[in-house]
Amino acid sequence: MIHLRKVLIIADPGVDDAFAIMYALLHPEIEVVGIVAEYGNVSQEIALRNTAYLLQLAGRTNIPIIKGADKPLTGTDPEFFFDIHGTHGLGEIIPPVQTPAHDPFHKVYELIHTYGRDLNIINLSRFTSLALTFIQAESNIHKTGNVYVMGGAFFVPGNRTPVAEANVYGDPQAAKIVAAHGKNITFVPLNISNRAVIPLDTIKKVAIENDTPFSKIISPIMDYYSTQYESIIPGIDGAPLHDVTLFSYLMNPEYYKVVERQVKVNTTGPSKGLTLADFRPAPEYIEDYPMHSIIIDFDKEAFTQDFVKIMTNR
Ligand code: RIB
Ligand code: CA
Repeated sequence: MIHLRKVLIIADPGVDDAFAIMYALLHPEIEVVGIVAEYGNVSQEIALRNTAYLLQLAGRTNIPIIKGADKPLTGTDPEFFFDIHGTHGLGEIIPPVQTPAHDPFHKVYELIHTYGRDLNIINLSRFTSLALTFIQAESNIHKTGNVYVMGGAFFVPGNRTPVAEANVYGDPQAAKIVAAHGKNITFVPLNISNRAVIPLDTIKKVAIENDTPFSKIISPIMDYYSTQYESIIPGIDGAPLHDVTLFSYLMNPEYYKVVERQVKVNTTGPSKGLTLADFRPAPEYIEDYPMHSIIIDFDKEAFTQDFVKIMTNR
């Protein structure tokens, strides 16, 4: 019997989030028990609609959509990235859906309560909703399974500032709460996600040899996203599928190299959003501060092959 991995996704779709959600919905061994739509690449309102669109295409409207945070913990206005992800977050596609019926954030606590240690939380977005989960359900969150977060850049350049990755930079206070109070957190940083670039020829093949419910959107959303990336990184053949790497790791940990370290987050000044870990051979540890897993390397070829297999439903 197949052992299904239960996942609660927190996302800001966004093109790479959309690919991650499609991968999760198509994977025969993943059961998506809910999707929290949060601000980030796009507004929370657009994230709700894009999530509904993907679930509608998949015929999985039974999966609860949950209203996540619409701004950082500090209450400051969020910054959106329509230039990279498109006016509606899915390239030039305008999803033909209204704001869907959705659950309030409290549904997250119900899911944690229902599934306990069997639940994996996959955070593909800013850290705000996840931090709220820690603050408001401190006793419960530690009863979940593992928490995976796309975020951070450890001694590699950031993508939002020279030192900061976008999910951490978008709400560094929230990221700091998660790093300082979380248990079982796995950080999936730019160190690997920047390299999760599937060549455009391969994406084209995935789109052509595709009889999944997502066949019609794969090319248009990737074309837009990769064209935008080409203007930032001339010569790049494709664009980083940051958020897909979390699911790929969840299902294929053998492709990834992980180290255990404490993670600190800077919240102010020019290094706002910087994530820091001590990678010296004899690291110094802070007392009463949690250890986390950080993914620092992966087998890109194996990642690509698995992506093609799942996305084409082979
Ligand atoms: O830095 C990459 C992350 O920021 C990804 O989650 C992407 O979708 C954006 O939110
Ligand atoms: Ca994202």
